[in-house]
Amino acid sequence: MSDGNIGVALVGSGAMGTVHAAIASGIDALQVVAVVDPIAESSARLAARLEAAGFRRPRECVTLEEALSSADVHLVVITTPSGLHVSQATMALQSRRHVIVEKPLDVDIARARSMADRAAHAAMEGLVASVISQHRYDTATVIVADALKAQAFGRVTSAIASTAWWRPQSYYDSADWRGTWALDGGGALMNQGVHNVDLLLSFLGRPVEVSGQMALLSHRSIEVEDSVVAAIRFESGALASLHATTAAYPGLATRLHVMGSLGSAIIEDDLLTYFHTAVTPGIDVGPMGLTSAEGNNAGTVIVNADEGDYRLGFPLPPAPSGQYSLDPTSHHRQYMDVVSAIASGGQPQVTMQQAFEAMALIRSVYVASTLRRPVLFVDVLTGKYDDVELAPNHIN
Ligand SMILES: NC(=O)c1ccc[n+]([C@@H]2O[C@H](COP(=O)([O-])OP(=O)(O)OC[C@H]3O[C@@H](n4cnc5c(N)ncnc54)[C@H](O)[C@@H]3O)[C@@H](O)[C@H]2O)c1
Repeated sequence: MSDGNIGVALVGSGAMGTVHAAIASGIDALQVVAVVDPIAESSARLAARLEAAGFRRPRECVTLEEALSSADVHLVVITTPSGLHVSQATMALQSRRHVIVEKPLDVDIARARSMADRAAHAAMEGLVASVISQHRYDTATVIVADALKAQAFGRVTSAIASTAWWRPQSYYDSADWRGTWALDGGGALMNQGVHNVDLLLSFLGRPVEVSGQMALLSHRSIEVEDSVVAAIRFESGALASLHATTAAYPGLATRLHVMGSLGSAIIEDDLLTYFHTAVTPGIDVGPMGLTSAEGNNAGTVIVNADEGDYRLGFPLPPAPSGQYSLDPTSHHRQYMDVVSAIASGGQPQVTMQQAFEAMALIRSVYVASTLRRPVLFVDVLTGKYDDVELAPNHIN
């Protein structure tokens, strides 16, 4: 693959569009050839930022159609409001371009379902479609996933996934689409908890039954929940407790505990803070920088920071007020995974089907909460509850 031979159109020139521009422009195989935004000043600002960093100034387009009319676009990266993701990804795949979509896949479960099917067909024609799920590429995640594969935790019995964040009212007020069912698709679980939901699915497998409660307690003028809890039973028999809030002032941690009959792990704010397995000799996790106690992993407590061994096209601007600043390391790894899938004609690690299943689990919690009774995950997956209008159980 020669340098810059994959032309990228960045769709959406807002906060995440800027992050993606910095990452994509730092990868030799990619060249940002177009930036798209209906707000011309936004795309102009991003184009100027790339130009100032020494790259060829990309075309500024008002619509995706305009960007797709040029043959130099091979990969479309979508960082628009969540409710636009599937329609824009569909347009890109129909015009035979590879696609990266920012999470979540969409806000509408029916659209997401048909997208997963379309992407599976497109894969047979050599097109790569992936949804950003950067935490699957975190070092901590890879260690736990490897340990689960090696059965180092014995029988997985339960998990706790908690995202306890704080978003000030100004976060929801910063754009009209935030906090709406139509374009944001949900609140604390859809936006902030989605990462933990995705990891929970990747660690524990397929859910069977879900119950939940959601409430809007500490924000105003939004339709969606700022606090949610759920109980989930998985096909393996394992149980999980899921929690997400944007109303935990001043902002606490994201935690994922995975517990089994022979070992357990805790990932906290993307770092592996606890890892214990009674299986000896210790599983081979050396390359990840994991240290084991006395040649045995029992009781090991680890904090391993991800090292950024990559370059950005330009330094990231500070995060908008009230939002956390994103470490681009794992986004970059996901980009490299997509670039190598494009080069090899293979498939990326994170597919649209996986992103659809994460959305289906989130919707299961919302439906169970709205209907005030447990629901079967398979029913949500296959469309039984597509028409349910969602609403928090309690609105302040
Ligand atoms: N992976 C992560 O950790 C992460 C973090 C934050 C946000 N996100 C996701 O990224 C997406 C964008 O979030 P953001 O914070 O950058 O929002 P933002 O509001 O800062 O940016 C969205 C941009 O899209 C533009 N836009 C609107 N309609 C468009 C259209 N039809 N065509 C092209 N551009 C259009 C807007 O003008 C705006 O510039 C959301 O789906 C969000 O969930 C992911």
